[in-house]
Amino acid sequence: GFSVELLLILLYYYSNETRSVRFVSLKGRDFLTLKDFTGQEIMDMVNLGIDLKAKLKAGIPTPILTGKSLGMIFQKASTRTRVSFEVGMYQLGGQALFLSSHDLQIGRGEPIQDTARVLSRYVDGILIRTFSHKEVEDLAKYADVPVINGLTDDFHPTQVIADLITIQEHKKRIKGLKFAYVGDGNNMTHSLMIGGAKTGMDVMVACPEGYMPNAEIVALAQQYAAEYGGSVSVMHDPLEAIAGADVVYTDTWASMGQEAEKEIRQKAFAGYQVDSAKMALAQPDAIFMHCLPAYRGYEVTDEVMESAQSVVFDEAENRLHAHKAIMASVM
Ligand code: CP
Ligand code: NVA
Repeated sequence: GFSVELLLILLYYYSNETRSVRFVSLKGRDFLTLKDFTGQEIMDMVNLGIDLKAKLKAGIPTPILTGKSLGMIFQKASTRTRVSFEVGMYQLGGQALFLSSHDLQIGRGEPIQDTARVLSRYVDGILIRTFSHKEVEDLAKYADVPVINGLTDDFHPTQVIADLITIQEHKKRIKGLKFAYVGDGNNMTHSLMIGGAKTGMDVMVACPEGYMPNAEIVALAQQYAAEYGGSVSVMHDPLEAIAGADVVYTDTWASMGQEAEKEIRQKAFAGYQVDSAKMALAQPDAIFMHCLPAYRGYEVTDEVMESAQSVVFDEAENRLHAHKAIMASVM
């Protein structure tokens, strides 16, 4: 029959097994969109980010990725994403390489499939910021190392991990909060709807006619919301979205690649500016968020950006902690 020793040995292995499985469960995974992660996995990265932030502030080193390298391909401009991934990798004991598409052979026509396989022989992870989301999927398909989406025309998932850290810090909870997004139905909107739905928020999105988020992504986010106990609603009226909100979020009216449409867009978005009058409709303790860069006088007033409710620089700081959590999880 069973001896106590055997039972103890089994228990020992079982507990280690579950611990390690949970700890390494995201190792080797790509981070392309939040569609690919459960609400629990998203919250695990958020909580790891909060933990890494506390350790950094306390001066406790976190050499989780010693000896590892991250290649960072940028086909669009970046301040926050580039600097925070680079510094974050350094703080984790590894190194990051900034690879501008102007200098890479990609710019001269080397296919992404070949670039993926070559870089995989040198680095332990690849971050890419580009236009087409399909390009990121192709890179991930051909790379042998994890690929992290640093923004495409359709999604900006790393930003949302930082946003959730910021919401948790300022509101002390995420589930059940009312989250309002006002402005262009863009890459931010898509990732916020998915991330918000999977963390149980009530997401209200207000955009002008012709600038609504992708209908398939809205439907998907609504499916996630049903599963996780939140909701996702899209509408045209910004006042309806903001009324009673705990979090008010906006983003530029003209994203990277849409510079030529700037003037048409400024007309279409008149009435969608987040100003003090609109903020007054939200909860008195509502926070204002923006992924940045912000264009004062367009999607947001200078007054709201500089108000006590604005947490945009905490949010920008949290990119660092979020990205360290993402890298430590998948690499
Ligand atoms: N929010 C954000 O992604 O900023 P950057 O474009 O500066 O990276
Ligand atoms: N929607 C913006 C986000 C910038 C971080 C863009 O794609 O340009």
